[in-house]
Amino acid sequence: MINCTSRLSFFLLAVVIFSTLQQLVVVLCEPKVVPCYFIFGDSLVDNGNNLYRETTEKVNYMPYGIDFPEGPTGRFTNGRTIADIIAELLGFEERIPPYVNATNGDFLRGVNYGSGGCGILDETGRQLYGDVISFNEQLSNHESMISHVVKLLGTESRAKQHLSSCIYSVGFGSNDYLANYLPKYYSSISTPYNPQQFASLLVSKYSNQLQKLYDYGARKVAVSQLGKLGCVPIQVSTYGASEGSLCVEMSNNFVQIFNAKLKLVIEDLNYNLSDANFVYVSNVITSYGNITNLNEPCCSLSIDGHCLPGGVICSNRDEHIFWDAFHPTEAVNMIYAKLAHTDMSPLYASADLIDIV
Ligand SMILES: *[C@@H]1O[C@H](CO)[C@@H](O)[C@H](O)[C@H]1NC(C)=O
Ligand SMILES: *[C@@H]1O[C@H](CO)[C@@H](O)[C@H](O)[C@H]1NC(C)=O
Ligand SMILES: *[C@@H]1O[C@H](CO)[C@@H](O)[C@H](O)[C@H]1NC(C)=O
Repeated sequence: MINCTSRLSFFLLAVVIFSTLQQLVVVLCEPKVVPCYFIFGDSLVDNGNNLYRETTEKVNYMPYGIDFPEGPTGRFTNGRTIADIIAELLGFEERIPPYVNATNGDFLRGVNYGSGGCGILDETGRQLYGDVISFNEQLSNHESMISHVVKLLGTESRAKQHLSSCIYSVGFGSNDYLANYLPKYYSSISTPYNPQQFASLLVSKYSNQLQKLYDYGARKVAVSQLGKLGCVPIQVSTYGASEGSLCVEMSNNFVQIFNAKLKLVIEDLNYNLSDANFVYVSNVITSYGNITNLNEPCCSLSIDGHCLPGGVICSNRDEHIFWDAFHPTEAVNMIYAKLAHTDMSPLYASADLIDIV
């Protein structure tokens, strides 16, 4: 990361050459390296968008948010989400608000479109959870949002320039497996796709959606790979762990197929859309530090795998990977977010310098 001092010395040289750049130096000493941050995703980032939808996938009750300053907010964990922590690491002092409650000033700083239970495919989550906000619908919300940016900045070209300086996080696919493909696959409900074909279908839709985000002016985009979904407690309790493992290894293998294809799509997008930077965020945790409980949720569960309203919770939340039967604890979110922030460094290192040129 470039701090103010090193930028200053770099630009002092420039000031000698171009004597009118003094004002620029002042601008460059703004401590924030990233002017705006837009978040697209599922329950790993949802911070309240689902609360006003006809869906069962909402968690605005204790013990969700027990370690969050404002208490239960619709976040699917005990504390901050991965997106909350990344925003802090990027230098944002105030939280990025949910799209549903964003107002004027927010549109220039970024909003969070995340929706628990949704996926790459429009139908993902609909049967199990109701009216969740798919990636396609999040993209149309973004399109509406852009009209606010144009109004606020006065012209389309200013809006375009602003939007190109923002960082965009994108993370979808978990629910396309957990709430769509895997239940069908394991219960032999007819599906026209084998695991290879399903992964191909997903990444081809995903690629089009990412291209659409580019068409809406995004140039710095971080795309997260999927975690080991076969280790999620609801998978293990429903299908049983593989021999010698705590996880459903076949599910993990299916996800690996998706990740491998996604990585190629990201390379392709960078090649085809050469004025943009798409970063593949691998989030591979090599050390869990003090987290020793690898498979037990921290709260007592309802039948659908969420925490029971007002139910019992563990006291050592920092030692658990899982908060409920699907979602990580804030302790794990912190590890993920730090790794993701490092993976994202090509998007923010020297961001200001590039903008000036
Ligand atoms: C958020 O938006 C919803 C839906 O428009 C509204 O009902 C709710 O009052 C808003 N909440 C806040 C805190 O603004
Ligand atoms: C990149 O461009 C090629 C050639 O037009 C196309 O076949 C391919 O699908 C594109 N890839 C992506 C990820 O957009
Ligand atoms: C592990 O726990 C100890 C004692 O609570 C603490 O001092 C240390 O910072 C923790 N390490 C990590 C990586 O969280």
